[in-house]
Amino acid sequence: MPIDVIKSPAPNPASDHLETVTLRHATLADAPALALTGAATFLEAFTWMLPGPDILAHALKNHTADAYDRYLADPRTRATLAVTGSPAGLPNEPGSIVGYVLLCTPDLPSFDVLSTDIELKRIYLFSRFRAVPVLDRSGQPIPNLRPAQALMDAAVSDARTLGARRLLLGTHAGNLRAIAFYHRNGFIEAGTRTFQVGNQLCRDLIFARAL
Ligand SMILES: CC(C)(COP(=O)(O)OP(=O)(O)OC[C@H]1O[C@@H](n2cnc3c(N)ncnc32)[C@H](O)[C@@H]1OP(=O)(O)O)[C@@H](O)C(=O)NCCC(=O)NCCS
Repeated sequence: MPIDVIKSPAPNPASDHLETVTLRHATLADAPALALTGAATFLEAFTWMLPGPDILAHALKNHTADAYDRYLADPRTRATLAVTGSPAGLPNEPGSIVGYVLLCTPDLPSFDVLSTDIELKRIYLFSRFRAVPVLDRSGQPIPNLRPAQALMDAAVSDARTLGARRLLLGTHAGNLRAIAFYHRNGFIEAGTRTFQVGNQLCRDLIFARAL
């Protein structure tokens, strides 16, 4: 019996510019898209770690357009988005949100939070977009800058602009890739917390970095 060979499509230079990101601040109008991207990146990151129903319950509860509306309406919140280029052949159409970083007033109940602290609540990128070029405002690739680092740099800059003196974040103790990224960015372990995901009580590490 003949075997069908499925060939990979040839590289398509016309769509190469899709595989780039630019950064921009989120506005209230981004809340619905951010809710979907927030849920999707959360699912991609953590489905392997926790039971499916708990992961879904967490995403459904926390990644809603209303929740992002509330964040984006708060003057102490800043969200920066990583957005792809326009789809091939449609230069006037917007790209898609493939990552984001969210800064907000700290919500770390067990931690001794200071009034000059701010929390890096979330930083997420779809895995496909973690090593693509980051373009500047004129559309040129920024040398040696990865999207995650660009998002972190934007968050640090925004946190300083908001007058914060220390950046805090909590992450699952098993999230080794994110923890390595935080260490590279000067964060040090500062405490622990428990964090509810659906019915699962997770142990998180809290990291801090001076600004
Ligand atoms: C956390 C997150 C944003 C970090 O982004 P990242 O791209 O994975 O992190 P880095 O930019 O540090 O890159 C990591 C890898 O790239 C390498 N790298 C980093 N900078 C590089 C550079 N300039 N050139 C080449 N390689 C580089 C690192 O050595 C590392 O390699 P490895 O995969 O072989 O270990 C991303 O992993 C993510 O979205 N994770 C899922 C969501 C999540 O866990 N968020 C945090 C929840 S609190």
